[in-house]
Amino acid sequence: MSLLITGGTGYIGSHTVVELQALANEQDIVIVDDLSNSSTKVLDRIEKITAKTVTFIKADICDYEAMNEVFSLHSIDAVIHFAGHKAVGESSEKPLSYYYNNVSGTVILLKVMAAHNVKKLVFSSSATVYGDNTSPLNETMPTSATNPYGQTKLMIEHILFDLAKSDSDWSIACLRYFNPIGAHESGFIGENPNGIPNNLLPYVAQVAVGRLAQLQVFGDDYDTVDGTGVRDYIHVVDLAQGHVKALQNLDKISGCKAINLGTGNGTSVLEIVNTFKEISGQNIPYKIVPRRAGDLATVYADANLAHELLDWQATRDLHAMISDTWRWQSENPQGF
Ligand code: NAD
Ligand code: UD1
Repeated sequence: MSLLITGGTGYIGSHTVVELQALANEQDIVIVDDLSNSSTKVLDRIEKITAKTVTFIKADICDYEAMNEVFSLHSIDAVIHFAGHKAVGESSEKPLSYYYNNVSGTVILLKVMAAHNVKKLVFSSSATVYGDNTSPLNETMPTSATNPYGQTKLMIEHILFDLAKSDSDWSIACLRYFNPIGAHESGFIGENPNGIPNNLLPYVAQVAVGRLAQLQVFGDDYDTVDGTGVRDYIHVVDLAQGHVKALQNLDKISGCKAINLGTGNGTSVLEIVNTFKEISGQNIPYKIVPRRAGDLATVYADANLAHELLDWQATRDLHAMISDTWRWQSENPQGF
């Protein structure tokens, strides 16, 4: 049997493939990625870490025929679906590209899965679907979105809930990620954003390594420990292991279930900067600038459901998250 990983050469996908390869079962891994935000160099790095090969197919999930061929050639048992565009700012500039790639792409994938009677799915959702609810955020809260990227995640969740309601054979885990950071401890794979990073950690890492001059801290007048924004940062390897657990427990999930993957703890921007400075030994110049539009003061998970349902909990602390980010960034200053 094979497991299909869409978007498997991306940041979270590649770390998940490594964790899946560590399992002692005979499941083959098939990665489908169009390489729009990743490179085949990741495949060599995965092989270097795991000493196992994966099957890679360059294809767009929006291409029904290509996806149909993947399912015809490989005996796929279940799918972990990471493929999608993820930049919030870009999604407001190019909404059609986001709705097409993320929403239409997922519908096409689901149609192909249904046609081949493959009805087990783990989907990459996001804490962005909680809108402006007050933290800790739990899965029973009402959902909303404030930008096209967030809307695509919300629409896909609705589609998955409707699909599972229409056919009880489907088992779907909708994993709502908080803020994934860090890298594999080998330093061989990590986050490799194109252009100027939008997210805090890759930005700080590129300042530390000298690629960027100075961090802009978006606001120091929030009602938080030091006035800067607080988020629930989660080590990408913990997140990857959450996917393995979700897959292993899909049989326990009837229908579609939304599950948070976070630590339940919050860390401020300045706490991140100071810890990064301490671990890397580098100076991290920063300037306080006005708040970024759409940002919330504090966002962190209620992580209990994943513990109860999947027997999963994040185990890596902030020190590990930042040490691993720094190892990856300092050993690969220009990325892959
Ligand atoms: P990433 O960009 O590193 O990985 C996504 C991969 O999907 C890339 O390799 C890209 O080339 C591929 N891809 C995009 N569109 C495709 C298509 N049409 N067909 C085939 N491949 C396609 O992003 P990531 O950080 O690994 O995120 C993975 C998933 O998790 C995304 O769906 C993202 O929205 C979601 N997510 C990410 C975060 C985060 O902070 N990184 C947070 C919440 C949710
Ligand atoms: C962002 C996305 C969200 C997505 C999440 C995880 C926005 C508005 N939201 O959220 O949809 O699910 O990433 O990928 O983009 N910060 C700075 N300077 C920077 C960058 C960030 O001070 O250069 C601050 C932010 O104000 C925030 C914190 O750092 O307080 C984390 O920011 P970021 O990494 O962008 O994540 P989110 O805001 O949680």
